[in-house]
Amino acid sequence: MDYKDIPILKALKDYAEEGLSYFHMPGHKGGNVFKKTGLTEFDIELLRMDVTEVPGIDNLHCPEGAIETAQERAAKAFGAEHTFFLVNGTTGGIYSMIMAATKPGDKVIIPRNCHRAVTGAVILGKLHPVYISPEFDVRLEIASGISTEAVLKAVQQNPDAKAVVVTNPTYYGVCSDLEKLAEIAHSHNMLLLVDEAHGAHFAFNKRLPKSALECGADMVAQSTHKTLTSMTQSSMLHVRSERVDIDKLKLFLQLTQTTSPSHILLASLDTARYIMQEKGEKLLDDVIDWCDSFRKEMEAVKGIHCLGSKDIGRDGIYDFDRTRLTVNLSELNISGTEADKLLRSKFKLQVEMADLNNIVAICSVGDTESDIEKLAQALKHIASDAPEKHKTSGYKPKIYSKIPKMELMPWEAVYRQSEDVPLMQSVGCISGEMIIPYPPGIPIVMPGEVITREILDYALDCLYNGIKINGVKDAGLKFIQVLK
Ligand SMILES: Cc1ncc(COP(=O)(O)O)c(C=O)c1O
Repeated sequence: MDYKDIPILKALKDYAEEGLSYFHMPGHKGGNVFKKTGLTEFDIELLRMDVTEVPGIDNLHCPEGAIETAQERAAKAFGAEHTFFLVNGTTGGIYSMIMAATKPGDKVIIPRNCHRAVTGAVILGKLHPVYISPEFDVRLEIASGISTEAVLKAVQQNPDAKAVVVTNPTYYGVCSDLEKLAEIAHSHNMLLLVDEAHGAHFAFNKRLPKSALECGADMVAQSTHKTLTSMTQSSMLHVRSERVDIDKLKLFLQLTQTTSPSHILLASLDTARYIMQEKGEKLLDDVIDWCDSFRKEMEAVKGIHCLGSKDIGRDGIYDFDRTRLTVNLSELNISGTEADKLLRSKFKLQVEMADLNNIVAICSVGDTESDIEKLAQALKHIASDAPEKHKTSGYKPKIYSKIPKMELMPWEAVYRQSEDVPLMQSVGCISGEMIIPYPPGIPIVMPGEVITREILDYALDCLYNGIKINGVKDAGLKFIQVLK
């Protein structure tokens, strides 16, 4: 192994091997304390490399050594002009890219079902959100991609907006037509900012959807830890655009991230890039083949439907991630959440996510063919077992796509005092919290928006039919927080 191709890892390894006594942070002193106390679960060899910015180890916030080189290599590998390593997840990247593209009071066009990191940026940046409803796929019963028509309408109605934010792919692996969206945003003088948390692998195999950078996005935040191989919390932000103020972006990266970044996390980002550059295409080819076989095998199972090529073109599904296994079980007598529990308890398999009718399994270059085959076999068992043993309500999630009246900006609502009121007394009040039935995961009310009877009826219908309500303090919806 030639460590010079993984510069951060090399710097840490060289330092750890120098045989120094550590009179610097962190206080575990190269893992010594775990040796002393017998807590050997913590890997001492790794912890020798968990060091602070001593000479020879670069500084994330003003890199001029190993981190600078590693970021440059990552930029080249991912097709960016600038790449920034992130230690506060994609969340920190999303905060930074949105706030670097705007100033307080600016409008941003965002999907109504965006990740809370986007909503967080809207609050922190005191922005004016303009929502676009995602499409809803009736077959899989999931919120799907963003249509070009919806984005075009939003930019035409809000020519003063500064940016369009898109989640691509979605958690379920659905992709929108990003090239068109980039064209629309740019022709209206707006930036296209992509939350590509689930698509960091796209750049490394042509059989996958095009990466957001390739499609023309200006800034892209990716969770390297989700679909590539870096450690939890480590992500990347890529820029390829003349429209971005890099100095402002750097400032926001400093404001949203710790001054004590873990160099182990940074080395894991460096290593993830190295693995993908050296072997990514072949490793992904294998995973895609195994996932294709999985989908083919599942096609023959009555009652199971996987997101796949045949779904392209329907309900906002422009493309899909072939490494993601989104399995709809709604024709079986078992819910996604029950199947999730069975997969764990009976088959020793843990999937990423389950909702009322689907399970979602993330596959990556770390998987083996036999693991994916185990999942296929387990699902076949569950399907053959389901008709007799499992019962579900058969409820189909519906979509509520009306956007309520926004009386206050989300950030204004956050600073107002709120109180709990019985749900039915909240009609006409300004909401202090979000109500997000999951699925489909689209907020029906946001802080600062006016609660209507129709919204409450929809929320109660969801709750009654076993759909989880996220975003609220009282998930049983007896009370709701409204602004005083
Ligand atoms: C669509 C999406 N965006 C952003 C994030 C935030 O990423 P991170 O956990 O790396 O901060 C997530 C995390 O689950 C996500 O699913």
